[in-house]
Amino acid sequence: MEFTKAAKGLKGQLAVPGDKSISHRAVMLGSIASGNTEIHHFLQGADCLSTISCFRRMGVEIENRGNMVFVHGKGMRGLSAPSGMLDCGNSGTTMRLMSGILAAQPFPSTLTGDASIQKRPMKRIMEPLTQMGAHILSLRENGCAPLRIKPGKLHGIHYHTPVASAQVKSAILLAGLYGDSPTKVTEPALSRNHTELMLRHFGAEITSEGVTAALMPAKELYGIKVDVPGDISSAAYFIAAALMVPGSEVLIRNVGVNPTRDGMIRVCQAMGADLTLENVRSREAEPMADLLVRHSSLKGVEIGGEIIPALIDELPMIAAMACAAQGTTVIKDAAELKVKESNRIRIMVENLSAMGADIRETEDGMIIEGGHPLHGASVDSHLDHRIAMTFAVTALIADGVTTIKDADCVRISYPGFYQDLSRLLEG
Ligand code: S3P
Repeated sequence: MEFTKAAKGLKGQLAVPGDKSISHRAVMLGSIASGNTEIHHFLQGADCLSTISCFRRMGVEIENRGNMVFVHGKGMRGLSAPSGMLDCGNSGTTMRLMSGILAAQPFPSTLTGDASIQKRPMKRIMEPLTQMGAHILSLRENGCAPLRIKPGKLHGIHYHTPVASAQVKSAILLAGLYGDSPTKVTEPALSRNHTELMLRHFGAEITSEGVTAALMPAKELYGIKVDVPGDISSAAYFIAAALMVPGSEVLIRNVGVNPTRDGMIRVCQAMGADLTLENVRSREAEPMADLLVRHSSLKGVEIGGEIIPALIDELPMIAAMACAAQGTTVIKDAAELKVKESNRIRIMVENLSAMGADIRETEDGMIIEGGHPLHGASVDSHLDHRIAMTFAVTALIADGVTTIKDADCVRISYPGFYQDLSRLLEG
């Protein structure tokens, strides 16, 4: 797909699709709750559809009515054995979180997915789940999917995660629901806390203090109505586009601004962005706001430490934005980027270099010298949705034509992305 430099600024309003992390969790908890769960503004991306299809395969009736998804909960012990493998597609969240639930089921299961997910590390969940009494095995014996899970009797543990990962934390907490004693997870830095917040709304006894979450085993969860806020990770592309393209002014409505996810906003403001939060409100403890973004002259910043988990998926876009900023941007403590849907450090450096950026790879991040004009180039998304969206936006400030290979992989998290971008460009 081809993209060219923006002729004028982005103008207008939009509401981005529902949050991916929250959409997954609502289907999972809704499936093991008693009673019905109604999910509004559910993300119809391929990843969340993978979660729906896995739970349907385990006997859960899920009606997908477009913007609203209705889950007929089966109760904590009501899932049935799937025939054949459960296909998680490209979705790490589906595979890792579902492993926590499956480890406690009285039937065996096998989880698989696409080529990318079969290369992503699963030992990080296998280890703590095994400590809890789960029987979980990598069929490739390299710690990657397919994973074979056999019935096990689970007990609570206090696990100190070596990396701040909400997927790992959530897998342990979901397994902990079925344990015979309390479960605690302590992280090196706080990762997104959607699982903790949602578990509480479904009736679980869970508390959080700093970087530790503590959960009591549950007898039953109760279906609820979930209003999914707009995904800040999707909003990030429009924030960046509006900041970088002269003459832009965009209002992004109903964006989730949970403090464990809002690192992009904080970094943009530190870079000198004209970005304001309006109409801040909260639903089910998930805060939401409208974001007003105007073109700004940006300056380089240093990004590392505890903020990293709060903007991990936005770092590719931030790296590209740093090219349009004056001065140096250092991104560190972000080695996790190497084990996402693609190696996001390597690929950002390759693609941005092809466009004329001054960027280099480090052990745990990137260093970008801003202020060098970019030119169009052929870039490869490596089938990574966030890389594709990052370059569709970066193309808007590059002279000439940028061609993105496999650009349609945006369907993973944002099926209407290119339409929404064109609409704002037409203003
Ligand atoms: C997610 C957590 C993050 C994030 C991913 C979604 C989640 O992964 O990158 O896109 O929904 O819990 P890690 O927990 O592996 O950092």
